[in-house]
Amino acid sequence: MDDASYQSVKEEIKRSADIVDLVGNFVQLRKAGKNYVGLCPFHSEKEPSFTVNRERQMFHCFGCKKGGDIFDFWMAYHHCTFPEALKDLAERYHVPLPQRPLTAQEKRKRERIGAIFSANEAALRYFHETLLRDSVSHHAREYLKSRGIGPEITKEFLLGFAPDRWEGLVEYLERENIELGIAESAGLIILKNKRRYYDRFRKRIIFPIFDLKGRPIGFGGRVLEGSHPKYLNTPETPVFQKGKVLYGLQASYTHMRSTRRALIVEGYMDFLAMWSFGIRNSAATLGTALTASQVRRLKGYVDEIIVIFDSDEAGRKAALRGLPIFVNEGIQARAVLLPEGHDPDTFLRAEGTERFLDLVSAAPVLLEFYLEQSLSGKGQSIEQKVGVVRELLPSICELKDPMLRAAFVQKVAEDTGIRENVVWSELGKVAKGQSKQVYPQGGNSKLNSGTVRKFTRDVHLLNLLIYHPEVARELVDCRWQLLMEDENTSKVISAFFDKLKREGGFEPGQLIDELPDETAKNELRESLMQSSFYDEAGARIAVSEIKRKIDELEIISSIRQAKERGDMEELNALLKLRAKLYQGMV
Ligand code: UTP
Ligand code: MN
Repeated sequence: MDDASYQSVKEEIKRSADIVDLVGNFVQLRKAGKNYVGLCPFHSEKEPSFTVNRERQMFHCFGCKKGGDIFDFWMAYHHCTFPEALKDLAERYHVPLPQRPLTAQEKRKRERIGAIFSANEAALRYFHETLLRDSVSHHAREYLKSRGIGPEITKEFLLGFAPDRWEGLVEYLERENIELGIAESAGLIILKNKRRYYDRFRKRIIFPIFDLKGRPIGFGGRVLEGSHPKYLNTPETPVFQKGKVLYGLQASYTHMRSTRRALIVEGYMDFLAMWSFGIRNSAATLGTALTASQVRRLKGYVDEIIVIFDSDEAGRKAALRGLPIFVNEGIQARAVLLPEGHDPDTFLRAEGTERFLDLVSAAPVLLEFYLEQSLSGKGQSIEQKVGVVRELLPSICELKDPMLRAAFVQKVAEDTGIRENVVWSELGKVAKGQSKQVYPQGGNSKLNSGTVRKFTRDVHLLNLLIYHPEVARELVDCRWQLLMEDENTSKVISAFFDKLKREGGFEPGQLIDELPDETAKNELRESLMQSSFYDEAGARIAVSEIKRKIDELEIISSIRQAKERGDMEELNALLKLRAKLYQGMV
């Protein structure tokens, strides 16, 4: 579909739909003046701040600031893309969607994927029924029981058992008229000597893995005794990619959404233990560290991800690898380290939910966690500290945001007691090896609109004002003008500070009407479309970094003036001050 037809379908849907009715299907609304209000579905709250306005056909939450039209609501509520929302709403309001017919190749692909799902569904039935009813599963049922997995969990998560047979599933699939070639591409069975198929999963407890629509995309199988490998997973298939999957998410994402928090564990058993102990906002990676694509998905539901690690060294290393992913995705991450020898499953069973949740609420943010773990040894020598910094540098290099990078360098310098300029120069060496730019000077980034926009300091400041005004207002009396690179950004920021002074907090969109000209208005609109660059903690760091930069620029300009005046005494004092500033002492 081209842009114009998208637009006209969108308009037509808007004419047929009413936002109060639509949202009312998902959120209990009551009338309050000219608006309707209800409890926000996007963050957890006790007093309704979610507001729907019929006249403007818009919604807005005064708590979490989500807002927009019916499409924005649909995308946020169902975690889908615009084209998907368009398709859903077009159907709902009977607006015909102009559609390009699928090419033959696309059609084949779609059919194959459908067939793979059917094969997985058949296998799911086979494993589950075998576990529930077949006498061969006696052992498996006892084993699950011994691990605290009762019939409710077994049924809710459709656990299964693959019996000790080579062709049990093969025969079942044949009876169900599933093409064996398809079952092979689903990773369920394996072709031997190009002639015979046999079952991949044998004599294993089966953990089916679902997508968010509840369709089985793959399976994990655990041995009953101590043989190897302990777990076997579905290989990569057209519907199963290990790095994208999170076990349990289909059941837990609504809980994540209401708590705004995701607890990430490593194992199937850990997830199920947490679920049965009433901790429902968790999901498991399949034994690996979280990937950017998993983090991106979680970001749709939560403000914070808490990663729960089993053991010291591995946890420390995993935290380090995760650091740039979380920071670049702009989401707060914290880390819990369980006592030696425990994983969430064993810890919960030994210590109970309350102790577990205590650990979760005390969890430090990831960088802190890493530094704590690495620097906790008593009487660390300078060499050891340098070692810690060296270990961190590649992760800092991965950070895309120059200001955050600067903030990290500062923090690392503070915590290790190594001078900041030394850290910078080491970072420079690492970056050179990776041919990356490390010093803070604002990179370029492409926006959705296709325009290229420079993320200079003034753009950062405006973003902070929009999303963290209570933090950014600290800068109101600083000479922030020194940072300005763009006349329009400067106008907007100036108007922003004025209004903040006059009225205190306000909805940034209101400022549009008060700006002097169209280019400044556009500047603000564009910034409003951008999401927040920082989380709460990041914002505070960024603001203090900006302050520092302003101090530096101020001194530099005073130095210039002192030179021009020939005031040597003043000049000397200023030069000393600047040196101190560079050493991070002021
Ligand atoms: P663990 O070895 O920590 O197992 O692996 P676990 O989840 O605690 O299982 P139990 O308690 O011994 O039954 C964590 C995760 O790593 C993946 C699995 O997803 C497992 O849940 N894994 C582990 C594999 O994929 N293959 C293996 O051989 C081992
Ligand atoms: Mn375990």
